[in-house]
Formats: sequence, structure tokens, C-alpha cells
Amino acid sequence: MLYSIIVSAGLENIAREELSERFGNTGDLKILERKPQRLIFQYTGNPRELLSLRTAEHLFLILKRIPNMTRSRSSLAALSGSLTRFNFKETYECCRQVGINIRKRMPFRVTSRLSGKRNFRRVDLQRVIERALIARGWHLTSGRSVLDVWAEVHGDDGYISIKLSGNDMAQRPYKQAHILASLKPTVAYSMVRLSRPHPTDVFLDAMCGAGTILLERALMGRYGYLIGGDVSSEALDATVANFGRKHRPRQFFQWDARKLPLQRRTVDKVVCNLPFGEAIGNLPQLTNLYRQTLKEYARVLKPRGRMVLLTSQRRTLDDELERLHFLDARQRLTVDVRGKRAWIYVIRFA
Ligand SMILES: C[S@@+](CC[C@H](N)C(=O)[O-])C[C@H]1O[C@@H](n2cnc3c(N)ncnc32)[C@H](O)[C@@H]1O
Repeated sequence: MLYSIIVSAGLENIAREELSERFGNTGDLKILERKPQRLIFQYTGNPRELLSLRTAEHLFLILKRIPNMTRSRSSLAALSGSLTRFNFKETYECCRQVGINIRKRMPFRVTSRLSGKRNFRRVDLQRVIERALIARGWHLTSGRSVLDVWAEVHGDDGYISIKLSGNDMAQRPYKQAHILASLKPTVAYSMVRLSRPHPTDVFLDAMCGAGTILLERALMGRYGYLIGGDVSSEALDATVANFGRKHRPRQFFQWDARKLPLQRRTVDKVVCNLPFGEAIGNLPQLTNLYRQTLKEYARVLKPRGRMVLLTSQRRTLDDELERLHFLDARQRLTVDVRGKRAWIYVIRFA
């Protein structure tokens, strides 16, 4: 069967790595294409397993993929016409495997997405697919618990897919307590992956907010010790609540990251979502915060350690890294964080 996952912009390669690592050895997986925010692959195993992917926002079963979509309305007919004789047997089986209830007159709704210049509108795309499915005996409805059909045209490609994931695929059950500017778990997971986790890691997030990064590390496999801290007691309360009794050994501190009560060269991995500016107020304050925090991180990090930092203040971080020439930004990924452009830096000692 053909599937696609949707990921946050910038995380496509990390998602590809996760897919290969999790399912690549079984012979069930063949990754076909990497598109912006989308990976397309064949998978012969149970699709329920794909729902546990930690980089993915949504999982789709692709029913039809039509290449050569043009601007003209006639390409719409090609897309909807592909459903006329489509055999839904395997589709239904796949839906059942992820817990979707299949009924005789299958209730459905269509969501459409369109990019690029076309001689048809998004609603035209939606309507032709609705009509094609009604003709197959399906029941168009706006009610709940219906099959979510997606019709999309991007570039040369047209897709008709079924959304297999609920809206909570990218959510995590641990995240009970929230703070403002809390990081998406999919981004936190990706940052943790970039730190190249090792079972003996002493792992630090000195501005941990609600603890998302620390929890993603805890869930990724064995570690030596987790250390979290934040200047805000409200944030720390959220971290403690989200951890509950699980994931030890760990320790949390209310502290100022500019002055860490840790010995030098004791930490293997620092992963941190740096404050983005709005909360800090003005640029000199932000620059000062980045400068001193970076110095502290460099002090506590072991010589072969790794820092993975997220910021939307690229200039500020670049300037500070330039000053500290013993640090080397080995990788810089552009990502989308709540609709804003941000960068993940992977930093090591030069
Ligand atoms: C962008 S948020 C981190 C969000 C976190 N990754 C999450 O998912 O919840 C930045 C955090 O840095 C904390 N912070 C700001 N200045 C700090 C400082 N000097 N020392 C320690 N924490 C600080 C804020 O209280 C806030 O919780």
C-alpha cells in the first residue's frame, strides 16, 4: 500500500531517517519520494505501526496518485475518473487495521488542498471528488466519525488519500501541563535525534519550559541522567507535572541558565529551545542571554559533546558563535515553528 506522512517544514530528512530506522530492516518499507513537508512510501506491514512515528503530524493512505496534473480543468476529470472503477477492498482493510469503522454506505467528507496556478478552484477539486465517491455509493456528510478523504494538487501531482491518523498523532499523552511558547513534540523529538542519543548520556536542557525536549529524550531510549532547569517556577511545575513519577534518574532546578551550578565538562548533550525574543523584550538583553548561556553550555559540555539549539534569532546566535571560535556549527536546519522561520543548530567543539 502507498502511504504519505506530513511533517513540519524542514524536518523531512529527519522523518526519512526515522522511517528507515524503524521499518527499514523488515523489508516492508520502500521510501519513494521526499517532497516539501511530505514523504511518500510503500509499506506492506500493519499501518497501525506507522501511527507511532514521532516526526509525523499526519498519516495518509494514498488511494490514487496522478502525475501530470496541469493547469486545465481536464486534469480534474483524470483525478476523479480514477475512482470510477477503483477497488476499495484493500483500502477498507487498511482502515480497519487502524480502527476506522467501515460501513455499507461509507460516510465521508472531502478536504481539498491546492497549490500553484490552476484554471480551477479548490472547491472545484473538492466537488469532483465528492461526486465521484457519491457515484460509488458513499454518503457525503458533515457529521462526526466519517472517513476523511483528502484531495490535493501540488505541482504536477494529484493525490486522493484517506487520513488514517486522528488529529492527535503529533500530540503526546505526557503533555498535560502547558506553558506559553512550548515546543511541538515533533520538533523536540527531531532535535533530540540530532543530538545522536547514547545510552550513557548526561542530557541537559537548561531552559526546559514544560519539559518537552527532556521527555522526548526520556522516551527515546536509555540515558545516563536527565537534567532540566528553568528560571520560571511555573515552567518547572509544568515539567514536574508532565514527568510524573516516570523517567529516572533526573533532576530539575530553578536556575538562571547564565550561571549553571554544574561542574565543567560533565554533560554529553545539551538540547535547548532558546527564548525567541518576544518574551525577552529587547535585543541587547537577548544578546546578553545568548552570550552568557552559550558560554555556560560550552563550559559544562564534554569535549566530544553536542549542543542542539533552536532559535528564530539567527543573527544573534551567529554573532555569538563567531565570538566563540572554539565552537563550530556543523549543521543548520531551517524549520517552521508555529508559522515562523527558525533554525536548529548542531554545535560541537571545533
Ligand atoms: C522557548 S521556551 C522553552 C520551551 C520548552 N522547550 C517547551 O517545550 O516547553 C524558553 C524557556 O526559557 C526560560 N528562560 C528564559 N530565560 C531564562 C534564563 N535566564 N534561565 C533559565 N531559563 C530561562 C523561559 O522561562 C522559558 O520557559
